Amino acid sequence: MSDVVLEVDHLSLHYLSRFGEKFHAVRDVSFTVSKGEVLGIAGESGCGKSTLVSGLMGMCIPPLHVTSGDVRINGESLMNRTVEDVRANVLAQKISMIPQGAFNTLNPVRKIKDSAADVFYAHQKSGQRLSRAEINDRIYDRFDELGMETKRILNSYPIQLTAGERQRSVIGISTLLNPEIVIADEPTSALDVSTQKEVITMIFDLLNKGIFSSMIFITHELPLLYHVADDIAIMYKGQFVERGTSEQIVKNPQHDYTKMLMKAMVRCDYVK
Ligand SMILES: Nc1ncnc2c1ncn2[C@@H]1O[C@H](COP(=O)(O)OP(=O)(O)O)[C@@H](O)[C@H]1O
Ligand SMILES: [Mg+2]
Repeated sequence: MSDVVLEVDHLSLHYLSRFGEKFHAVRDVSFTVSKGEVLGIAGESGCGKSTLVSGLMGMCIPPLHVTSGDVRINGESLMNRTVEDVRANVLAQKISMIPQGAFNTLNPVRKIKDSAADVFYAHQKSGQRLSRAEINDRIYDRFDELGMETKRILNSYPIQLTAGERQRSVIGISTLLNPEIVIADEPTSALDVSTQKEVITMIFDLLNKGIFSSMIFITHELPLLYHVADDIAIMYKGQFVERGTSEQIVKNPQHDYTKMLMKAMVRCDYVK
């Protein structure tokens, strides 16, 4: 595939402690994601996946800093830009994230429809301002399209919804402006098994409807990635140690760490 949407070029990121010590959380990571592609990223907790996401979104806020490297979306670099600039011109429109816990993302004292409207206010280019009525139409249409119980959900506060409805609302909200690429950072890890499937189905429904065209799906569940991702990258201690097709990574892992991760996954003997 030649239509590269996201290019990550030797990206290294570090956290700076109060005492001036650097903790290198992402080390020399390079990869691309093309239009229509789903890249899975797997790796143990603490290996740097969410830190990498901050870098991919151009959201390196202290104590996180860019050590070196570049991130480009459609050829446009996100480095050396202010957080305000990235927020106004890139986030939600070109790249968007589906976060782990919907409860931390939604404002508890605002109805879902108001949180959804905030996306338009925060990320709309100044030349394209819509009225609140137009914004509401867009929000209602999108939630309808996603098969949500639109009226009830949009008029609820987060506390009035189930965990699954909250997470589905967050997914609906984060993709309202049709970003080109979506990063799902462990989108189901805070949910019980019955709602996990519902949420994953919804994410891929959005992809299939063309609401976004490319995705990075982060999870430590390699069997899930095997089914949903084209390629899988394995992250270990801040680095990509291996990338290959889902088939190759799961059935013929090359790197010792990938082999170990696979062994950990298929050990289901304790459920017998
Ligand atoms: N704000 C922070 N300050 C210092 N270190 C951090 C901070 N956030 C995360 N880290 C460290 O960076 C490493 C990677 O964390 P993270 O990106 O959250 O991993 P993952 O998402 O893979 O679980 C971990 O060792 C974590 O302790
Ligand atoms: Mg994480």
